[in-house]
Amino acid sequence: MFPVEALKNACNAVLNEEGAASLQYSTTEGYIPLREAICQRMKVIGINSTIENVLITSGSQQAIDLTGRLFINEGDTIICESPTYLAAINAFKSYNAKFVEVAMDDDGMVMEELEKKLQEHPNTKFIYTIPDFQNPTGRTLKLERRKRMIELANQYDVLIVEDNPYGAVRFAGEELPPVKHFDTESRVIYMSTFSKIFTPGLRLGWICADESFIDKYVAFKQTADLHTDSFAQRITAKYMELYDMEEHIKKIKAVYKTRCTEMLRSIEEFFPKNLSYSKPEGGLFIWVELPEGVDSTYIFTECLKNNVAFVPGAPFFPNGTKNNTLRLNYSNMPKDKIIEGMKRIGEVVHRELEKEKLFY
Ligand SMILES: Cc1ncc(COP(=O)(O)O)c(C=O)c1O
Repeated sequence: MFPVEALKNACNAVLNEEGAASLQYSTTEGYIPLREAICQRMKVIGINSTIENVLITSGSQQAIDLTGRLFINEGDTIICESPTYLAAINAFKSYNAKFVEVAMDDDGMVMEELEKKLQEHPNTKFIYTIPDFQNPTGRTLKLERRKRMIELANQYDVLIVEDNPYGAVRFAGEELPPVKHFDTESRVIYMSTFSKIFTPGLRLGWICADESFIDKYVAFKQTADLHTDSFAQRITAKYMELYDMEEHIKKIKAVYKTRCTEMLRSIEEFFPKNLSYSKPEGGLFIWVELPEGVDSTYIFTECLKNNVAFVPGAPFFPNGTKNNTLRLNYSNMPKDKIIEGMKRIGEVVHRELEKEKLFY
Protein backbone atom coordinates (compact mmCIF):
# COMPACT_ATOMS: atom_id res chain seq x y z
CA MET A 1 0.00 0.00 0.00
CA PHE A 2 3.01 2.29 -0.10
CA PRO A 3 2.19 5.43 -2.14
CA VAL A 4 4.94 4.88 -4.72
CA GLU A 5 3.69 7.22 -7.46
CA ALA A 6 3.00 10.02 -5.00
CA LEU A 7 6.45 9.53 -3.53
CA LYS A 8 8.04 9.81 -6.97
CA ASN A 9 6.33 13.16 -7.36
CA ALA A 10 7.37 14.27 -3.89
CA CYS A 11 11.00 13.26 -4.58
CA ASN A 12 11.02 15.17 -7.87
CA ALA A 13 9.50 18.22 -6.26
CA VAL A 14 12.12 18.21 -3.48
CA LEU A 15 15.01 17.86 -5.93
CA ASN A 16 13.59 20.43 -8.33
CA GLU A 17 12.82 22.99 -5.66
CA GLU A 18 15.72 22.52 -3.25
CA GLY A 19 18.38 20.77 -5.35
CA ALA A 20 21.68 20.14 -3.59
CA ALA A 21 20.43 21.70 -0.34
CA SER A 22 18.16 18.69 0.16
CA LEU A 23 21.22 16.41 0.19
CA GLN A 24 23.34 18.43 2.62
CA TYR A 25 24.00 17.78 6.32
CA SER A 26 21.20 19.16 8.43
CA THR A 27 20.22 20.09 11.98
CA THR A 28 19.93 17.39 14.64
CA GLU A 29 16.44 18.47 15.73
CA GLY A 30 15.02 17.81 12.28
CA TYR A 31 13.51 19.55 9.27
CA ILE A 32 11.29 22.37 10.51
CA PRO A 33 8.35 21.89 8.07
CA LEU A 34 8.18 18.22 9.05
CA ARG A 35 8.23 19.07 12.76
CA GLU A 36 5.45 21.60 12.14
CA ALA A 37 3.39 19.01 10.29
CA ILE A 38 3.89 16.58 13.20
CA CYS A 39 2.76 19.22 15.71
CA GLN A 40 -0.40 19.71 13.66
CA ARG A 41 -1.11 15.97 13.53
CA MET A 42 -0.56 15.66 17.29
CA LYS A 43 -2.87 18.62 17.99
CA VAL A 44 -5.72 16.69 16.39
CA ILE A 45 -5.23 13.80 18.85
CA GLY A 46 -4.96 16.08 21.89
CA ILE A 47 -1.26 16.86 22.27
CA ASN A 48 -0.36 20.56 22.30
CA SER A 49 3.24 21.11 21.27
CA THR A 50 5.59 23.44 19.43
CA ILE A 51 8.51 22.41 17.25
CA GLU A 52 10.80 22.90 20.28
CA ASN A 53 9.09 19.85 21.80
CA VAL A 54 9.73 17.66 18.75
CA LEU A 55 12.88 15.81 17.74
CA ILE A 56 12.90 13.74 14.55
CA THR A 57 14.53 10.34 15.07
CA SER A 58 15.65 7.52 12.80
CA GLY A 59 12.48 5.54 13.41
CA SER A 60 10.92 5.37 16.84
CA GLN A 61 13.35 2.54 17.52
CA GLN A 62 16.06 5.18 17.82
CA ALA A 63 13.81 7.13 20.19
CA ILE A 64 13.61 4.01 22.37
CA ASP A 65 17.35 3.45 22.28
CA LEU A 66 18.18 7.10 23.07
CA THR A 67 15.69 6.95 25.95
CA GLY A 68 17.61 4.02 27.39
CA ARG A 69 20.92 5.80 26.91
CA LEU A 70 19.67 9.02 28.45
CA PHE A 71 17.75 7.77 31.46
CA ILE A 72 18.89 4.31 32.51
CA ASN A 73 21.64 3.86 35.06
CA GLU A 74 22.81 0.32 35.75
CA GLY A 75 20.24 -1.49 37.88
CA ASP A 76 17.41 1.01 37.36
CA THR A 77 13.94 -0.46 37.21
CA ILE A 78 11.73 -0.09 34.16
CA ILE A 79 8.08 -0.95 34.65
CA CYS A 80 6.37 -2.32 31.56
CA GLU A 81 3.35 -4.23 30.38
CA SER A 82 3.62 -7.99 30.49
CA PRO A 83 4.26 -8.82 27.66
CA THR A 84 5.87 -5.90 25.82
CA TYR A 85 7.68 -4.94 22.61
CA LEU A 86 10.70 -7.15 22.09
CA ALA A 87 13.04 -4.55 20.58
CA ALA A 88 12.39 -2.18 23.51
CA ILE A 89 13.26 -4.99 25.94
CA ASN A 90 16.51 -5.57 24.06
CA ALA A 91 17.33 -1.85 23.85
CA PHE A 92 16.74 -1.22 27.57
CA LYS A 93 18.53 -4.44 28.56
CA SER A 94 21.63 -3.21 26.77
CA TYR A 95 21.73 -0.38 29.36
CA ASN A 96 21.43 -2.94 32.17
CA ALA A 97 17.91 -2.09 33.24
CA LYS A 98 15.84 -4.43 35.39
CA PHE A 99 12.30 -5.09 34.20
CA VAL A 100 9.26 -5.25 36.39
CA GLU A 101 6.27 -6.58 34.49
CA VAL A 102 2.73 -5.48 35.18
CA ALA A 103 -0.14 -7.80 34.34
CA MET A 104 -2.58 -6.80 31.60
CA ASP A 105 -6.17 -7.69 30.91
CA ASP A 106 -8.26 -6.93 27.85
CA ASP A 107 -8.17 -3.23 28.82
CA GLY A 108 -4.39 -2.96 29.03
CA MET A 109 -2.10 -2.59 32.04
CA VAL A 110 -3.91 -3.21 35.35
CA MET A 111 -3.57 -0.05 37.46
CA GLU A 112 -3.82 -1.74 40.89
CA GLU A 113 -0.87 -3.92 39.85
CA LEU A 114 1.01 -0.88 38.61
CA GLU A 115 0.58 0.88 41.93
CA LYS A 116 1.77 -2.19 43.81
CA LYS A 117 4.91 -2.38 41.65
CA LEU A 118 5.59 1.35 42.09
CA GLN A 119 5.43 0.86 45.86
CA GLU A 120 7.71 -2.18 45.75
CA HIS A 121 10.29 -0.56 43.43
CA PRO A 122 11.14 2.96 44.56
CA ASN A 123 14.08 3.13 42.12
CA THR A 124 11.79 2.95 39.09
CA LYS A 125 13.04 5.25 36.33
CA PHE A 126 10.06 5.12 34.02
CA ILE A 127 6.92 3.29 33.01
CA TYR A 128 7.22 2.07 29.43
CA THR A 129 3.78 1.71 27.87
CA ILE A 130 2.30 1.04 24.44
CA PRO A 131 -1.27 2.15 25.10
CA ASP A 132 -2.81 1.63 21.66
CA PHE A 133 -3.08 -1.78 19.96
CA GLN A 134 -0.05 -2.91 21.84
CA ASN A 135 2.75 -4.94 20.34
CA PRO A 136 2.45 -7.90 20.87
CA THR A 137 -1.09 -8.20 22.28
CA GLY A 138 -3.17 -5.78 20.18
CA ARG A 139 -4.76 -4.59 23.45
CA THR A 140 -5.63 -0.97 24.23
CA LEU A 141 -5.42 0.85 27.55
CA LYS A 142 -8.87 2.10 28.46
CA LEU A 143 -9.58 5.76 29.13
CA GLU A 144 -9.82 5.75 32.95
CA ARG A 145 -6.57 3.83 33.16
CA ARG A 146 -4.78 6.47 31.08
CA LYS A 147 -5.80 9.10 33.59
CA ARG A 148 -4.89 6.85 36.51
CA MET A 149 -1.47 6.13 35.05
CA ILE A 150 -0.73 9.87 35.05
CA GLU A 151 -1.95 10.21 38.65
CA LEU A 152 0.32 7.36 39.73
CA ALA A 153 3.31 8.76 37.83
CA ASN A 154 2.80 12.12 39.57
CA GLN A 155 2.35 10.49 42.98
CA TYR A 156 5.40 8.21 42.72
CA ASP A 157 7.50 10.75 40.80
CA VAL A 158 8.35 8.61 37.78
CA LEU A 159 8.41 9.32 34.05
CA ILE A 160 6.17 7.68 31.48
CA VAL A 161 7.56 6.66 28.11
CA GLU A 162 4.56 6.40 25.80
CA ASP A 163 5.47 4.45 22.68
CA ASN A 164 2.58 5.02 20.31
CA PRO A 165 3.20 3.78 16.78
CA TYR A 166 -0.27 2.31 16.24
CA GLY A 167 -2.72 4.90 17.62
CA ALA A 168 -3.34 6.34 14.15
CA VAL A 169 -4.29 2.91 12.80
CA ARG A 170 -7.65 2.53 14.58
CA PHE A 171 -10.23 0.80 12.37
CA ALA A 172 -13.00 0.19 14.93
CA GLY A 173 -14.31 1.58 18.23
CA GLU A 174 -13.89 5.02 19.80
CA GLU A 175 -10.81 7.19 19.40
CA LEU A 176 -8.89 7.60 22.67
CA PRO A 177 -6.53 10.45 23.51
CA PRO A 178 -2.91 9.45 24.09
CA VAL A 179 -1.63 9.22 27.68
CA LYS A 180 0.37 12.40 26.98
CA HIS A 181 -2.91 14.29 26.60
CA PHE A 182 -3.47 13.90 30.37
CA ASP A 183 0.10 14.84 31.31
CA THR A 184 0.01 17.61 33.92
CA GLU A 185 3.69 17.71 34.94
CA SER A 186 5.61 17.15 31.67
CA ARG A 187 6.35 13.59 32.72
CA VAL A 188 5.35 11.88 29.50
CA ILE A 189 7.88 11.30 26.78
CA TYR A 190 5.75 10.50 23.77
CA MET A 191 7.14 8.78 20.70
CA SER A 192 5.60 7.84 17.40
CA THR A 193 6.55 7.04 13.83
CA PHE A 194 5.70 7.25 10.14
CA SER A 195 6.44 3.52 9.82
CA LYS A 196 2.89 2.26 10.32
CA ILE A 197 1.05 5.01 8.45
CA PHE A 198 3.43 5.77 5.57
CA THR A 199 6.64 3.78 5.02
CA PRO A 200 8.97 2.05 7.51
CA GLY A 201 11.87 2.16 5.03
CA LEU A 202 12.31 5.93 5.24
CA ARG A 203 13.03 5.44 8.98
CA LEU A 204 11.23 8.48 10.36
CA GLY A 205 10.00 8.68 13.92
CA TRP A 206 9.79 11.42 16.52
CA ILE A 207 9.90 12.23 20.21
CA CYS A 208 7.57 14.81 21.73
CA ALA A 209 8.59 15.90 25.22
CA ASP A 210 9.39 18.85 27.43
CA GLU A 211 12.10 21.06 25.89
CA SER A 212 14.53 20.31 28.71
CA PHE A 213 14.39 16.62 27.75
CA ILE A 214 14.61 17.35 24.03
CA ASP A 215 17.86 19.29 24.58
CA LYS A 216 19.41 16.23 26.20
CA TYR A 217 18.09 13.88 23.50
CA VAL A 218 19.64 16.19 20.88
CA ALA A 219 23.06 15.93 22.54
CA PHE A 220 22.83 12.12 22.59
CA LYS A 221 21.53 11.92 19.03
CA GLN A 222 24.48 13.98 17.83
CA THR A 223 26.82 11.20 18.92
CA ALA A 224 24.59 8.53 17.36
CA ASP A 225 23.99 9.80 13.82
CA LEU A 226 24.22 13.64 13.74
CA HIS A 227 20.71 13.84 12.33
CA THR A 228 17.94 11.79 10.75
CA ASP A 229 18.09 11.34 6.96
CA SER A 230 17.32 14.84 5.75
CA PHE A 231 16.21 13.78 2.27
CA ALA A 232 13.66 11.36 3.76
CA GLN A 233 12.40 14.14 6.03
CA ARG A 234 11.97 16.50 3.09
CA ILE A 235 10.21 13.91 0.92
CA THR A 236 7.78 13.13 3.73
CA ALA A 237 7.07 16.80 4.44
CA LYS A 238 6.54 17.39 0.72
CA TYR A 239 4.20 14.40 0.50
CA MET A 240 2.16 15.84 3.36
CA GLU A 241 2.05 19.20 1.60
CA LEU A 242 0.98 17.78 -1.79
CA TYR A 243 -1.28 14.92 -0.68
CA ASP A 244 -3.76 14.09 2.04
CA MET A 245 -2.04 11.70 4.43
CA GLU A 246 -5.33 11.05 6.25
CA GLU A 247 -6.80 9.68 3.01
CA HIS A 248 -3.86 7.32 2.70
CA ILE A 249 -4.25 6.17 6.32
CA LYS A 250 -7.98 5.58 5.69
CA LYS A 251 -7.07 3.14 2.90
CA ILE A 252 -4.65 1.28 5.17
CA LYS A 253 -7.25 1.05 7.93
CA ALA A 254 -9.91 -0.34 5.59
CA VAL A 255 -7.57 -3.13 4.46
CA TYR A 256 -6.43 -3.98 8.01
CA LYS A 257 -10.01 -4.08 9.21
CA THR A 258 -10.97 -6.67 6.60
CA ARG A 259 -7.89 -8.75 7.32
CA CYS A 260 -8.33 -8.58 11.08
CA THR A 261 -11.98 -9.60 10.79
CA GLU A 262 -10.99 -12.53 8.60
CA MET A 263 -8.29 -13.67 10.99
CA LEU A 264 -10.63 -13.49 13.99
CA ARG A 265 -13.23 -15.45 12.04
CA SER A 266 -10.60 -18.04 11.10
CA ILE A 267 -9.57 -18.45 14.76
CA GLU A 268 -13.19 -19.29 15.54
CA GLU A 269 -13.33 -21.76 12.67
CA PHE A 270 -9.95 -23.49 12.80
CA PHE A 271 -8.57 -23.18 16.35
CA PRO A 272 -9.72 -25.23 19.35
CA LYS A 273 -12.62 -23.67 21.24
CA ASN A 274 -12.15 -21.94 24.62
CA LEU A 275 -8.83 -20.30 23.76
CA SER A 276 -8.51 -16.71 24.80
CA TYR A 277 -7.36 -14.18 22.21
CA SER A 278 -7.42 -10.42 21.80
CA LYS A 279 -9.92 -8.67 19.53
CA PRO A 280 -8.05 -5.58 18.38
CA GLU A 281 -9.72 -2.39 17.18
CA GLY A 282 -6.60 -1.30 15.31
CA GLY A 283 -2.92 -1.97 14.77
CA LEU A 284 -1.48 -5.20 13.40
CA PHE A 285 -1.62 -7.95 16.01
CA ILE A 286 -3.77 -10.65 17.61
CA TRP A 287 -2.48 -12.39 20.72
CA VAL A 288 -3.53 -15.97 21.42
CA GLU A 289 -3.16 -17.76 24.75
CA LEU A 290 -2.99 -21.54 24.66
CA PRO A 291 -3.59 -23.65 27.77
CA GLU A 292 -0.79 -23.59 30.38
CA GLY A 293 1.90 -26.12 29.63
CA VAL A 294 1.67 -25.91 25.82
CA ASP A 295 4.92 -24.67 24.29
CA SER A 296 4.23 -22.30 21.39
CA THR A 297 7.89 -22.45 20.30
CA TYR A 298 7.43 -26.16 19.60
CA ILE A 299 4.19 -25.41 17.76
CA PHE A 300 6.10 -22.81 15.77
CA THR A 301 8.67 -25.37 14.55
CA GLU A 302 5.84 -27.76 13.60
CA CYS A 303 4.08 -24.96 11.72
CA LEU A 304 7.22 -24.18 9.75
CA LYS A 305 7.07 -27.72 8.36
CA ASN A 306 3.68 -26.70 6.93
CA ASN A 307 5.13 -23.49 5.56
CA VAL A 308 3.32 -21.13 7.88
CA ALA A 309 4.74 -18.97 10.64
CA PHE A 310 3.75 -16.83 13.61
CA VAL A 311 5.78 -15.21 16.36
CA PRO A 312 6.06 -17.32 19.54
CA GLY A 313 5.14 -15.19 22.56
CA ALA A 314 7.92 -16.09 25.04
CA PRO A 315 10.51 -13.44 24.02
CA PHE A 316 8.00 -10.64 24.70
CA PHE A 317 8.25 -11.35 28.43
CA PRO A 318 11.44 -9.65 29.64
CA ASN A 319 11.85 -11.96 32.61
CA GLY A 320 11.17 -15.10 30.63
CA THR A 321 7.76 -16.42 31.55
CA LYS A 322 4.73 -17.74 29.63
CA ASN A 323 5.60 -20.09 26.79
CA ASN A 324 1.98 -20.71 25.83
CA THR A 325 1.33 -17.57 23.80
CA LEU A 326 1.53 -16.55 20.17
CA ARG A 327 1.43 -13.31 18.20
CA LEU A 328 -0.40 -13.33 14.90
CA ASN A 329 -0.08 -10.56 12.33
CA TYR A 330 -2.90 -9.87 9.87
CA SER A 331 -1.52 -6.75 8.20
CA ASN A 332 0.51 -8.11 5.33
CA MET A 333 -1.33 -11.12 3.88
CA PRO A 334 -4.37 -11.18 1.59
CA LYS A 335 -7.59 -12.80 2.80
CA ASP A 336 -7.09 -16.20 1.10
CA LYS A 337 -3.61 -16.59 2.58
CA ILE A 338 -4.87 -15.60 6.03
CA ILE A 339 -7.52 -18.33 5.83
CA GLU A 340 -5.08 -20.97 4.59
CA GLY A 341 -2.41 -19.97 7.13
CA MET A 342 -4.82 -20.04 10.04
CA LYS A 343 -6.11 -23.43 8.93
CA ARG A 344 -2.58 -24.83 8.99
CA ILE A 345 -1.73 -23.31 12.38
CA GLY A 346 -5.08 -24.52 13.72
CA GLU A 347 -4.31 -28.11 12.65
CA VAL A 348 -1.00 -28.09 14.51
CA VAL A 349 -2.55 -26.54 17.63
CA HIS A 350 -5.37 -29.13 17.61
CA ARG A 351 -2.83 -31.95 17.27
CA GLU A 352 -0.66 -30.68 20.14
CA LEU A 353 -3.59 -30.13 22.50
CA GLU A 354 -4.84 -33.61 21.73
CA LYS A 355 -1.40 -35.01 22.51
CA GLU A 356 -1.35 -33.15 25.80
CA LYS A 357 -4.91 -34.35 26.47
CA LEU A 358 -6.00 -30.76 26.89
CA PHE A 359 -9.57 -29.86 26.08
CA TYR A 360 -10.39 -33.38 24.87
C1 LIG B 1 5.81 -0.79 19.87
C2 LIG B 1 6.79 -0.43 18.82
N1 LIG B 1 7.64 0.58 19.04
C3 LIG B 1 8.54 0.94 18.13
C4 LIG B 1 8.64 0.28 16.92
C5 LIG B 1 9.71 0.72 15.96
O1 LIG B 1 9.20 1.33 14.84
P1 LIG B 1 10.07 2.25 13.88
O2 LIG B 1 11.48 2.24 14.36
O3 LIG B 1 9.93 1.65 12.52
O4 LIG B 1 9.47 3.60 13.97
C6 LIG B 1 7.78 -0.78 16.63
C7 LIG B 1 7.88 -1.51 15.37
O5 LIG B 1 7.29 -2.51 15.13
C8 LIG B 1 6.83 -1.14 17.61
O6 LIG B 1 5.97 -2.15 17.44
